[in-house]
Amino acid sequence: MSTSSSSAAEKDFKKNFLTIFLMIVLFLIVCFSIFIVNHNENNKYIIKSLELNGSAEEGDALFKINCVGCHGITARGLVGPDLHSVTQRLNDKDIIKQVTGGLTPPMPSFEIDPVNMSNLLKYLHSLE
Ligand code: HEC
Repeated sequence: MSTSSSSAAEKDFKKNFLTIFLMIVLFLIVCFSIFIVNHNENNKYIIKSLELNGSAEEGDALFKINCVGCHGITARGLVGPDLHSVTQRLNDKDIIKQVTGGLTPPMPSFEIDPVNMSNLLKYLHSLE
């Protein structure tokens, strides 16, 4: 008698364990897929921005609207650092990550389309 009831409990336990295990696996698969999709989109964004040949004048205008508050009207630095010769220290990919990433507060992350991103890069390259 007691053996049959304990084996029923055991079955229950196995079933629950299996359910929980499957849920965890499913959850991990979903997380992984989201990561892959995001990663690809980021890469596509970077590649597209790098392919375009931006305009320094447009980038200058964009800079005056979004960046001067911290980097100064001539990009000589204020709260944020001087951006002259930043293109010699950082490659374009790193600059894109800096501008869109929001990884170094207080600098916010900017949502800039690839055309404007390439304009901004051109402007930063035009600084000596
Ligand atoms: C709220 C202030 C703020 C704004 C607005 C801002 N930045 Fe920054 N930025 C900073 C700070 C602070 C740093 C230094 C972060 C660190 O400590 O690494 C920085 C760093 C950078 C760097 C890296 C400099 C280096 O020498 O490593 C680049 C490039 C840059 N900013 C570009 C921009 C551009 C382009 C814009 C406008 C689209 C912008 N920033 C807007 C505050 C700001």
